[in-house]
Amino acid sequence: MKARARAAGDDIIDFGMGNPDQPTPQHIVDKLVETVNNPKTHGYSNSRGIPGLRKAFSAYYERRFNVSIDPEKEAIVTLGSKEGLANLASAVTSPGDVILVPNPSYPIHQFGFIIAEASVQNIPVAPDQNFFAALELAVQHSVPKPKMIVINYPNNPTAEVVDIAFYEQIVDFCRHHGIYVLSDLAYSEIYFDGNPPPSILQVKGAKDVAVEFTSMSKTYSMPGWRIGFAAGNRELIAALTRIKSYLDYGAFTPIQVAAAAALNGPQDCIDNIRALYKERRDVLINGLKGAGWDVPSPLATMFAWAPIPPAFAHLGSLEFSKLLLSEAKVAVAPGIGFGEHGDGFVRLALVENKHRTRQAVRSVKSFLENYDKVIEDAEKKRAEAR
Ligand SMILES: Cc1ncc(COP(=O)(O)O)c(C=O)c1O
Repeated sequence: MKARARAAGDDIIDFGMGNPDQPTPQHIVDKLVETVNNPKTHGYSNSRGIPGLRKAFSAYYERRFNVSIDPEKEAIVTLGSKEGLANLASAVTSPGDVILVPNPSYPIHQFGFIIAEASVQNIPVAPDQNFFAALELAVQHSVPKPKMIVINYPNNPTAEVVDIAFYEQIVDFCRHHGIYVLSDLAYSEIYFDGNPPPSILQVKGAKDVAVEFTSMSKTYSMPGWRIGFAAGNRELIAALTRIKSYLDYGAFTPIQVAAAAALNGPQDCIDNIRALYKERRDVLINGLKGAGWDVPSPLATMFAWAPIPPAFAHLGSLEFSKLLLSEAKVAVAPGIGFGEHGDGFVRLALVENKHRTRQAVRSVKSFLENYDKVIEDAEKKRAEAR
């Protein structure tokens, strides 16, 4: 629909995909260019990542989380964290294994295991009493017993965050029951209002059960470069290393060298990226509030998770998103795309600049003010098209 509307000349303001719109910081690009001019870097690279990048990544865990990671045995570079998540799932899953995955969730959390023929059981995303009650139930009633649980905080799509006490409880539970934990920390550096998200690996004994994925994509605006990491439990890292040794030769060496320069170099570029998302968040959330749409202000991630306004709730997220696109020229991600428990919501990514965000807010306002006419017209149009 978006492509068709654009082809017809509509200016669609697009909050749909979490694709960072800012250029990668110049010093990182410069390092890539410098390195690519050295023909020695043109051969096959190293599938688990060049040593310099694994060391730079371990140094990041040390300074940011005070966690020491052995770059040889406890860390691996991936082709973006998505690739790592999917390949770890296929490395450790046998058909019929029970894996606990939040719903709604970032799609690869479910589908990595579905592709590996696991039996995926849903758990809630909100890190409250219901979450642990669901884990208890899953352990009591699943046959076979759950093998792994996937968690992702700060969360995509809901922007939910957790504190270290939550991770302590998870580690305690999973060590007790012999369940592995896969933690996705893709938004480790995209946080607002001063609370850096913790890592599960900060918990004593976490490495007995947990592996954690992080990514360069959002932190340094490097989504197209495809560099991510996994760290933690040695058996899981070894399994991922083994399967990747069959599948790939690692990212192109100049990309890995530039990624190491990003981690070792000046970090003020992250402050700028964070400040930009925060400014957009405030424009969007305050603007929508003024338009009569109350959306919780996310504490982290680059997403707002917006409950569908009551007048449209009966439509579900897909129909509501289609209406927003056709009538307000604003694209959002329907919550159903993240699982059925997301259907009462749409996700807005903070990827449009503040001027276009303001423009979007104005059209959403007139869309909401005329909702009965909007619904009536849309139904008429649909009837005519039939
Ligand atoms: C929760 C989460 N995990 C992983 C990814 C993928 O990151 P990468 O670009 O490192 O594959 C994303 C991207 O949107 C994400 O939101």
